[in-house]
Amino acid sequence: MSINPMPLERVREYERERAIRLPADERSLFHLTPLVGWMNDPNGFCFYKGQFHLFYQYYPFSRSWGPMHWGHAVTTDLLHWTYMPCALAPDTAADAGGCFSGSAVPMPDGRLMLFYTGVQPAGTFRRETQTQCIAIGDGTDFEKSMLNPVIRHAHLPAGYSAFDFRDPKAWREADGTFRMAVANRHEERQGAILLMKSRDGVDWQFAGEIDASCSEYGRMWECPDFFRLDGTQVLLVSPQEMHAREEFHAGYGTVAFLGDFDELECRFERRNIQPVDHGLTFYAPQTTLAPDGRRIMIGWMDNWETCKEAPRRHPWYGQMTVPRELFIRDGRLCQHPVREMESIWLDTVRHERITVQDSVSLEGVRGRLMDMTVTLYPDGSGCRRFTLHVAEDGSRYVQIRCDLARGELVFDRSHGGSHRDIAHTRHVPAEVRDGKLVLRLLMDKESIELFINDGERVVTSLIPTSPEADGITFAADAAVTLSVEAHHLKSTV
Ligand code: FRU
Repeated sequence: MSINPMPLERVREYERERAIRLPADERSLFHLTPLVGWMNDPNGFCFYKGQFHLFYQYYPFSRSWGPMHWGHAVTTDLLHWTYMPCALAPDTAADAGGCFSGSAVPMPDGRLMLFYTGVQPAGTFRRETQTQCIAIGDGTDFEKSMLNPVIRHAHLPAGYSAFDFRDPKAWREADGTFRMAVANRHEERQGAILLMKSRDGVDWQFAGEIDASCSEYGRMWECPDFFRLDGTQVLLVSPQEMHAREEFHAGYGTVAFLGDFDELECRFERRNIQPVDHGLTFYAPQTTLAPDGRRIMIGWMDNWETCKEAPRRHPWYGQMTVPRELFIRDGRLCQHPVREMESIWLDTVRHERITVQDSVSLEGVRGRLMDMTVTLYPDGSGCRRFTLHVAEDGSRYVQIRCDLARGELVFDRSHGGSHRDIAHTRHVPAEVRDGKLVLRLLMDKESIELFINDGERVVTSLIPTSPEADGITFAADAAVTLSVEAHHLKSTV
C-alpha cells in the first residue's frame, strides 16, 4: 500500500531535475555530500558487486531533517562517489513515518538485503513506534518485504521500548546465519544494544542484550556496530545526552567499548572504553569489511546540536567523514584515513627538521585542500606550547594549541568565522611519544580531520571559515624542531 504523497519514482524525478543544477565544485572535494537536500547518518555501508555502497539518511526536499529516505552513492576508491537514485522512500504502512538508519548485507543469491527502521507515525491515541524492516534488491532498486515490519516490539522481552527501537546493524556469520545489533532503551538500564538472530534475515529471534548504558554513558544509544578487529570485540554506539566524564564531552557522543564476547551466553565483557572521535562534529559512525580485510568506518560529520546552527550555503546540507581504516594498538581503537588518500595527492612540500619560534609560515605550505603531517620534536627545547593556525586570513583562523607540559591539545574554531553561541573547542589528550608529537590534518573545503599520534585520537570538525582563508602558521614559545610534509590535493575529481 502506497501512502506517501511522494512515492519513490517522484522522488527520483525530483533528484534528476535538481542534480543537473549542482556543479561538482560546489561540493566538498573528497567528503560525500547528499545529492540534494539533507543528509545525516551513514547507512548500509557494504562492498557489493565490485563497489562500496553507502546509503544515507536523506531528506531531498529541504536542507533540514524531514521524513527520512535513504540516499545512495557508490565508490571504488572511497573518495570519488557516484550518486545513485534514492533507494528508499517512506511509502508503506510499515515506514510511513520514515525509513530510519540501518545496514546492508550481500546475499548468497547475489541480491542485497537492506535492514532499516520503519517508523510508524503517531496516531491520535498512540506515540510513534519503531520497528525493523527489510528490502531486497539488485543494488539500485529495492523491494520492501510484504512481511514488514519483520521485527516488532513483541519480539522483545518486557522492559524494552517500542518507541526507542532502531538502527539495525546486520551481518552474516560464516555458517550463513544472520545476526543483528539493534538499539533500544530499557526502562531501567536506558540505552541498550540487543543481539537478534535469524536463519534467513526475515524471521528473527531475540538473543540477548550485548551491553547497556545504565545511565553512565548517556540516555538512548543510537547506531550500534559490533565487530571483531585484531582479536578484540568492538561495540560502537552513539549516545544521546551524555554527561561529560573522563575523555567524553557532554551531549551527543560516540563510544567504543572494547572487550570480549561470549555469544553462547550473550555476554560482552568490557576491557576498555574510549571516545571514537573527539571532534565537534562527528556522530553515528558505521563500518564495513573491505575485500582486502580492512575494517573501514565512515561517520556523519555533524551532530544533532551542531547542525541546528550551521550555515546553509549550498542546495545540500550534511557530509560524511573521510572513510577510515580501523585498527587496535595498545588496547585502543585507532584510525587512519584510508590509504587511497595518496591517490589524490597533487604535489608534496617538505620541510625537514627546521627550527620554529614566534609565528612563521613556511614556503609552499598554504591551502584548504591538503593532507599535511606536522611532526614536532620538543625534547630538550624548553618548548611548552606549540600553536598551529590553519584556514587563516587577516582576522580568522582555526587554532590547534598543544600544551606539551600537560600533554593536551585544544582544537579551537571559535575565531573561524562563526557568530553562533555553540561549542567551538575540544580538549584532547595529546602526548609526546618517543620524542615526537605527530599531527596529521586532512583539510577539505569546510572541514578538518585531525589524526593525533598516528591515529591514536581523532578530532573531526566542520569549520565555518570561508575558503579564501588559506594561511597556515606555526608558533612556539621556545625554538623547537619540526618537520612538515604537506600534500596539496587534486582539486578536481
Ligand atoms: C542518529 C539517528 C538514528 C535514527 C536517525 C534518524 O543520528 O537519530 O537513531 O535512525 O538518526 O534520521
